[in-house]
Amino acid sequence: MADEKSKIAIFGGSGYLGKYMVKASVALGHPTYAYVRPLKPNSDPSKLQLLNQFQSIGVTVIQGDLDEHEKLVSVLKQVDIVISTLAVPQHLDQLKIISAMKEAGNIKRFVPSEFGNEVDRVRGALPPFQTLLDNKKKIRRATEAAGLSYTYVSANSFAAYFVDYLLHPHDKADEVTIYGTGEAKAVLNYEEDVAVYTVKAVNDPRVANRVIIYRPPGNIVSQLELISSWEKRTGRSLIKTYVPEEAIVKLSESLPYPENIPVSILHNIFIKGEQVSFELTKDDLEASNLYPDYNYTSVDKLLDICLLNPPKPKLATFA
Ligand SMILES: NC(=O)c1ccc[n+]([C@@H]2O[C@H](COP(=O)([O-])OP(=O)(O)OC[C@H]3O[C@@H](n4cnc5c(N)ncnc54)[C@H](OP(=O)(O)O)[C@@H]3O)[C@@H](O)[C@H]2O)c1
Repeated sequence: MADEKSKIAIFGGSGYLGKYMVKASVALGHPTYAYVRPLKPNSDPSKLQLLNQFQSIGVTVIQGDLDEHEKLVSVLKQVDIVISTLAVPQHLDQLKIISAMKEAGNIKRFVPSEFGNEVDRVRGALPPFQTLLDNKKKIRRATEAAGLSYTYVSANSFAAYFVDYLLHPHDKADEVTIYGTGEAKAVLNYEEDVAVYTVKAVNDPRVANRVIIYRPPGNIVSQLELISSWEKRTGRSLIKTYVPEEAIVKLSESLPYPENIPVSILHNIFIKGEQVSFELTKDDLEASNLYPDYNYTSVDKLLDICLLNPPKPKLATFA
């Protein structure tokens, strides 16, 4: 399969991560299909622009709803691999894709929409985050029950988004907020790399029916290290406000859904340090180990980019 250029269908391709995924699939030479919700007269004009852009780079855009079972099955019959980057509220809707893949019977690999902490190993999540993790687990178990071949991706944190969130490079801010002590380590992976690693993994027999973890050594960093690297680069000393763990826990209890989710995720990643709470063993698959020739964007490199021209990530949620 590695050299055949499998056909890849992407669900959620118009979204934050999905755009990177579609571009990576095309860049790596795969015939690429984007299954997107139908445009309506009141759809955001930028979505039409994006779909036109997709078509101009050779993507086959199919407009359809996840409820259109027959249409789903007929599209899936044309492809080999399915990658879902659907948004958090749509995670359980992936059951509809699973049922259509089962009926189509030809899908060689499915990647459900996860791209965060390793859902079967993460501990200590506050309830709003745990609910989200539980949905991701339900999709894993349904995938296995359907007898589909899968790759589960633990991409840890999206680097462009979290560098923007923590350091505000755009505003040239003088103040930063530190969650907890700032010492816990997290893994920040550049979105473009998350997409490229995923497209490589879905074509890789070593990653069939396995979890792959994106934990390149140059991307493991604490909030304090990130801030200090940024201070060195900018020559500015930042005013630091610490938000203790108890305050974050209280917020997760008092904020309404869905605002209670981001604080619960911050808690798990940056206070509990759950992304690196387990050692990788020889039985784990880690992306930079599997693809040593791929020149990933380290956090240092990303900070250099931010100094010149910070990307402006726009995210609906960061789950
Ligand atoms: N690790 C991290 O730092 C991090 C950060 C953010 C997200 N994530 C994860 O990455 C994955 C993708 O998240 P994202 O932020 O890229 O998603 P997103 O941009 O919010 O949405 C992705 C797509 O979901 C579809 N969608 C949205 N609302 C829908 C609805 N009401 N009905 C049907 N489809 C709908 C849309 O596709 P169409 O309109 O094209 O159909 C949209 O483009 C999620 O699993 C999330 O948990 C991880």
